[in-house]
Amino acid sequence: CGIVGYVGKKDCTKVLLDSLSKLEYRGYDSAGIAVFENDAIKTKKTKGRLADLEEKLKREGWLNGTCGIGHTRWATHGEPSDINSHPHGNANISIVHNGIIENYRTIKDFLLKKGYVFESQTDTETVAKLLDYYYEGDPMATIQKVLAEIEGSYALGIIFKDFPRRIYAVRKDSPLIVAVGEDEAFIASDVPAILKYTKNYYLLDENEIAVLDDGKVEFFDVHGMPVEKEMLVADFDMEAAEKGGYAHFMLKEIHEQPTAIKTTITPRIVDGMPNLEECGLTYDRLKGYNNIFVVACGTAMHAGLVGKYVLEKIGRVPVTVDMASEFRYRDPIIAKGDLVILVSQSGETADTLAALRMAKERGAETLSIVNVKGSSIARESDMVLYTHAGPEISVASTKAYIVQLSVFYLLSFAIAYAHGAISKEECMRLTAELQNVPNMLEVVLKTPDNCQYVASQLVNKENLLYIGRGLDYALSMEGSLKLKEISYIHSESYAAGELKHGTISLVTNNMPVIAVATQRELLDKTISNVKEVKARGAYVVLVTHGYINVDDEVADYKIGLPTIDDLLMPMLTVVPLQLIAYYTSVLRGNDVDKPRNLAKSVTVE
Ligand code: G6P
Repeated sequence: CGIVGYVGKKDCTKVLLDSLSKLEYRGYDSAGIAVFENDAIKTKKTKGRLADLEEKLKREGWLNGTCGIGHTRWATHGEPSDINSHPHGNANISIVHNGIIENYRTIKDFLLKKGYVFESQTDTETVAKLLDYYYEGDPMATIQKVLAEIEGSYALGIIFKDFPRRIYAVRKDSPLIVAVGEDEAFIASDVPAILKYTKNYYLLDENEIAVLDDGKVEFFDVHGMPVEKEMLVADFDMEAAEKGGYAHFMLKEIHEQPTAIKTTITPRIVDGMPNLEECGLTYDRLKGYNNIFVVACGTAMHAGLVGKYVLEKIGRVPVTVDMASEFRYRDPIIAKGDLVILVSQSGETADTLAALRMAKERGAETLSIVNVKGSSIARESDMVLYTHAGPEISVASTKAYIVQLSVFYLLSFAIAYAHGAISKEECMRLTAELQNVPNMLEVVLKTPDNCQYVASQLVNKENLLYIGRGLDYALSMEGSLKLKEISYIHSESYAAGELKHGTISLVTNNMPVIAVATQRELLDKTISNVKEVKARGAYVVLVTHGYINVDDEVADYKIGLPTIDDLLMPMLTVVPLQLIAYYTSVLRGNDVDKPRNLAKSVTVE
């Protein structure tokens, strides 16, 4: 979910709607706002998108005021409906919430006994009612009492009828920033929400309470003692959060990949060698890691899978990749001195954050690869290597993935050299190859028509297989996920050699196969597998090096890529797979940037 708040002189409804529109990537099941109108709290909320809320406001009457809070929801407790939409509260108190209150049942039972009547199925309503229960005229004391009782994760924006120029905000395990402009102040789940108005913001720490009082902001700890905070300045502007002429953010972000890679790797290459000393990762230190874990969710986890192949292949260090939600509960065997790498675009994913905390408790050293500066995972890990992709708005991740890969490559080269697994010359050669990637990507991006054609062949299919071996297999998992996320075509990525052990029974002339074959030492083997599916009627698209000739018996269509070291091919191969997913989604008339049921930043477990 995304939350915002505004107090200033402007039309608050307009500001809230505008800020929320920059947070819709965090969820878009329902939306709502609560605004002070003539010192009374007025609420409008609805199931659906922000556009539906705006429509409702225009139809039923604008909320006229200069102070209020807003919300865009990704449903957890309770289906998306008008009633379950935020804000929640009554005439005296109103709140917006991102996160999950884990002990809401106990609190609800207590409040039911006190005579409260609940109208929604949300955990948030219990917080609103608990605030009401404790409120005796002092908002700070009330919030402190509530914080002592609630468990779980939350970013809360709270308004009290008695204080029509004030917003209170607090957070634990869910992100929240407080921004200040001229005679105005904001709260928001993320920086893009406020960029139109100001670049100056503060990061709220765990359990700190912010008070926005008519444009001034003050911070307090959980005991109500004032806290001094450092103001930060956003290092990107509105343009980065706008589509800039592209039909969708996803397409724009695909095209930003060459620059994003350059920005991420260039400062980390010194005299032709990887240099990660910015976070304390000296070659001496890298030499000490004999066991590495990579823990992440979704696309970031897929980047870790490629990272594992590369690290193990050239670094000869064992690497285990886990989905964060599994890692936490499988009681992993982590020893002191192991390195646990957390990968996350947002730096706020709840499961990844919890995995990080567990790894630290068990004595591992933690390194995060994170895109959003100052995010929780970045702040809590021992070391952080930021990816510099800039803000990623499209829910389906593209540029964040590729820069995560680029960091894994640098790290792998460095570890391999530190362990004596490769020579300095080899390390420099691979590093130079990595530096070549952005230029080669520009070439790949110039010919989207082959991907458009493939999309036109897939658009009416309901199932699809991706096959590959080794690095191609790891990479095609991401290709498959992209297609599922935005086209809603069911697809699976399968190890090409494993297909014959069961899954090949699915192959008919109605099951297209995208075969990725860029690893030349495995080429013959993969081509054999391609022939197996072709013989069973599948329409086959082969993604491989451009110079490799493939006859019609092997594949129906070929996408040829420029050639670099096979180890680095995933950096090029991912682009056609992203574009195939993109164009298929467009042809199907889907909402590319906001696919159904998904949210970009999942701050619940
Ligand atoms: C969500 C998004 C995915 C993303 C995953 C992990 O599920 O929809 O695209 O890969 O979270 O996000 P993170 O911010 O930790 O990389």
